[in-house]
Amino acid sequence: MTTRENFGSKLGAILAAAGSAVGLGNVWRFPIETGQHGGAAFICIYILCIIILGIPIMMGEFLIGRHTHSNTARAYQRLAPGTQWKWVGRLGVFTGTFILCYYCVIGGWTLHYTTLAATNTFDGVPPAEFQDIFALFVSNPWMPTVWLIIFMLMTHVVVSRGIQHGIERFSKIIMPMLFILVVVLVICSVCLPGASNGIRFLLMPDFSKVTGKVVLGAMGQAFFSLSLGMGCLCTYASYFNHHTNLGRTAVNVCVIDTIVAIMAGFIIFPSVFNIGVDADHLQAGPSLLFISLPNVFQKSFGAVPFLAILFSTAFYFLIFIAALTSAISLHEVTTAFIVEEMKLKRRWAALIVTGICSAVGVVCSLSFGPLKDMLIFDMSIFDFFDYISGNIFLPVAGMLISIFVGWYLDRHILIEEFSNNGELRARYIPVIVFILRYIAPVAIGLVLLNQLGVFSFLV
Ligand code: TRP
Repeated sequence: MTTRENFGSKLGAILAAAGSAVGLGNVWRFPIETGQHGGAAFICIYILCIIILGIPIMMGEFLIGRHTHSNTARAYQRLAPGTQWKWVGRLGVFTGTFILCYYCVIGGWTLHYTTLAATNTFDGVPPAEFQDIFALFVSNPWMPTVWLIIFMLMTHVVVSRGIQHGIERFSKIIMPMLFILVVVLVICSVCLPGASNGIRFLLMPDFSKVTGKVVLGAMGQAFFSLSLGMGCLCTYASYFNHHTNLGRTAVNVCVIDTIVAIMAGFIIFPSVFNIGVDADHLQAGPSLLFISLPNVFQKSFGAVPFLAILFSTAFYFLIFIAALTSAISLHEVTTAFIVEEMKLKRRWAALIVTGICSAVGVVCSLSFGPLKDMLIFDMSIFDFFDYISGNIFLPVAGMLISIFVGWYLDRHILIEEFSNNGELRARYIPVIVFILRYIAPVAIGLVLLNQLGVFSFLV
């Protein structure tokens, strides 16, 4: 057996996992979901999902990864040889590829907006026109395609070279920088005139808006944002050393991820309301990040063009990097699977993944332009990919993981891993086991069945 590398420090392990978790899910998907599902009430349910489902299932994934020290698909085979549990690992690999196919589209957009910001294109543009700039860009058949391929190639280069050294060092620099910039932008955004409407939207829950769709959306978003349910965290945990406190690491990652998401809400909503968009028109979809943010930069720093350029460029660039670290983690899971299961060289495996995801990505990207009218279940191709992976595949995988850890795995393995072989007291184990056995599978199952219309307890 070859010796596997470990993360060098506790902080490195936390930040690398946070690097996978913090991505477009926080700054792009979270504000959209919040906008579409009624603001504060959605956020309350989201936080509940993080606490009840996110933390325990993340601990479950960590446990599987560190105990087996192998990639996701292998991990299940090792823990449950000769059983069908291997399909949970395989479902993860499939879901990861599926997500990457549309993730790279938005990744490409962040690159394009970095160049727009750097070349001072936003200077003097009236707020209403940001919408047109965006619409023109995404409906163009060529530009987004080129950017998504560039984005995939960058991911490809990192993954095909191997990432263990890169990821940790990279995350340690990028994550704190992203955090500081986010804080600065929150301050700028809440100081805009009219911001109070946006803040109210984020803080005043209206529970009459809560429907089955809202709950499913919140649950799916929690899984998506935490990178749960497809083996990313399991793979990262296989590089944790024996002193890593699994419980504490999971809590830290969840807290960092949630804070970044909520701060992104505080950047985006005050500025959306500042442009004069009201809550009923927040169906804007993917555009919030790309329409409302340029407005914040212009309003806050427009008088000093140098600062406007500096901040907007830095921000889109950091979002791009956050997207890249998440894309790398998605890519890596599938690449590792192909290398080990099909015995291909890493370079070829990575190339296959890049090729498939770029090709399908182009189709997703075109669904904002020439393929706009092609609908699957009433959704554009892009939305279909997002909906199916976020709202169906990830929760189903999450449910299976909780059943696997709660019911199938030997209790000794749980105690050994969560307490680091007796080093830690880990008094929370019975609570986690209870959640993984009963609460998580039942809660996820009910929400899914409700959404599929099998029965209904929420309209
Ligand atoms: N969590 C990342 C984000 O917020 C995206 C991501 C990376 C992901 N790996 C994942 C989502 C695994 C689901 C599953 O952008």
